[in-house]
Amino acid sequence: MTAGNRPEDRVTGTEGATICARDVVVRYGQITALDHLSLDISPGVVGLLGPNGAGKSTFIKTVLGLVDPQGGSLTVAGLDSRTDTLKVRDIVGYMPEHDCLIDPMSAVEMVAYMGRISGMSKKDAVPRSHEMLDFVGVGEERYRPIGSYSTGMKQRVKLAQAIVHDPAVLFLDEPTNGMDPLGREEMLELIARISASDKTILVSSHILQDVEKVCREAVIVSGGKVVNRGSIEDLMAPAQGRKRLTARGAPENLRAFTDLLCKEHEVVDISEEFGQVRVVLVTSADSRSIFELACRQGVRIRSYQPDKISLEDIYISSVGGVA
Ligand SMILES: Nc1ncnc2c1ncn2[C@@H]1O[C@H](COP(=O)(O)OP(=O)(O)OP(=O)(O)O)[C@@H](O)[C@H]1O
Ligand SMILES: [Mg+2]
Repeated sequence: MTAGNRPEDRVTGTEGATICARDVVVRYGQITALDHLSLDISPGVVGLLGPNGAGKSTFIKTVLGLVDPQGGSLTVAGLDSRTDTLKVRDIVGYMPEHDCLIDPMSAVEMVAYMGRISGMSKKDAVPRSHEMLDFVGVGEERYRPIGSYSTGMKQRVKLAQAIVHDPAVLFLDEPTNGMDPLGREEMLELIARISASDKTILVSSHILQDVEKVCREAVIVSGGKVVNRGSIEDLMAPAQGRKRLTARGAPENLRAFTDLLCKEHEVVDISEEFGQVRVVLVTSADSRSIFELACRQGVRIRSYQPDKISLEDIYISSVGGVA
């Protein structure tokens, strides 16, 4: 048994654990994966978003002490990721992006084994393994070798091994990866159920609808830096006053109408398809004045409604694309 795994070394009072990263720099040779990244994460479910290579997995691995930073500081519940690595691992559960399971082992053996590594006694680890497999929905298959499992089942076992020691902090790296729509829904439901406790859960995902569904907050990283963050509600706030309209009419009339819209309102986007224009604008004007403007130009408005900004819009504008 290693230091940090002995019962007397177990870290207590970590409910509500906060992760604090200050100015963290990680380089792999010439590549800067984390570029003076600073980030505080408090309890709740937080989405970690960013394009391929943004540094999401590196951030998680650095918190776990699996990657050594060249600069900055990182603490979890006040414990230093570099010097208190074993204690940090005691309070953190990790569902990695890639396969981490041992194919010849059964799920019961695997999850119990991970419990043992996290300092549980054999007597506690086996019943706890069954409990966790029940929770994630792995049935009698739990006695079969993991090598024979579907991707969806492996994802469930990966979640079970991450939570077996009831960690205060949970890192889920692409938890719905490779899962079918139903499996994905069930995985999100499990995450929501886990989040009912006072855990700090960081979910890295490329599936923005998943993040919108389960996370209270999103952090967007790009090029190893945080480029945007906020509660899902606040990030969507720019939607207020945003309207989407479609209109039909003769091309010259449509042009005159959109020119006037651009003059009098903040037009975000104009597109044209099959003789119909689609305009996204931010305006405080009432709908009547917009309809009157259209009427004066001989244009017929076919729809006029609030435009819901999506997390995808925020993501694209944050990482340097066009919303
Ligand atoms: N072990 C490594 N050796 C060399 N370079 C690495 C290593 N791990 C990551 N990198 C590089 O560091 C950068 C950040 O990688 P990282 O895996 O953290 O990104 P990510 O945001 O998790 O991407 P993805 O969405 O594809 O999982 C990338 O440029 C990647 O190529
Ligand atoms: Mg990754």
